Amino acid sequence: SGEIGGGPAVVLVGPMGVGKTTVGQVLAERLGTTFRDTDTDIVATAGKEISEIFIDEGEPHFRELERQAVRAAVAGHRGVLALGGGAVLDEGTRALLAGLPVVFLEMGVAEAVKRTGLDAPRPLLAVNPRQRWRELMEQRRPLYTEVARAVVSTEDRTPEAVAEAVLDVL
Ligand code: S3P
Repeated sequence: SGEIGGGPAVVLVGPMGVGKTTVGQVLAERLGTTFRDTDTDIVATAGKEISEIFIDEGEPHFRELERQAVRAAVAGHRGVLALGGGAVLDEGTRALLAGLPVVFLEMGVAEAVKRTGLDAPRPLLAVNPRQRWRELMEQRRPLYTEVARAVVSTEDRTPEAVAEAVLDVL
């Protein structure tokens, strides 16, 4: 499995709200390892919230900080790793994932809107959530697929069942 090469045991990618953190924590418990999240690492390093980084410095700067966070996590973490939903947009970040056991957690647009559409703090969905989701997924789905070794649907499944499905495909 993912132990070969010394990187993380599993890397979870997929859109915001799909359950990367919840599923990642369940997976870490199952595997007897730790969970790490690059969003949390970025906030700790920058000393401010992600929404503030977007507002103060812009998305391109955030993607640079995110690439640095992914580089550090891939080098130093042997447990379960979750990336932010837009991490795959950056070519350098995608290159860092080569050869790792990356799993794409997916859901459809209707489910995505249901889970996150009313969730005001997400900067990328502030206006017109359904339309924004369609555009985001059109752009990102090919990138998630490119970096991932396997795709697992999260629709109509509990986090425990999703974690089980991830273990099955690894
Ligand atoms: C983003 C997703 C967020 C966070 C930032 C940008 C995105 O992470 O990195 O708000 O571009 O989809 P989650 O997927 O953990 O919500």
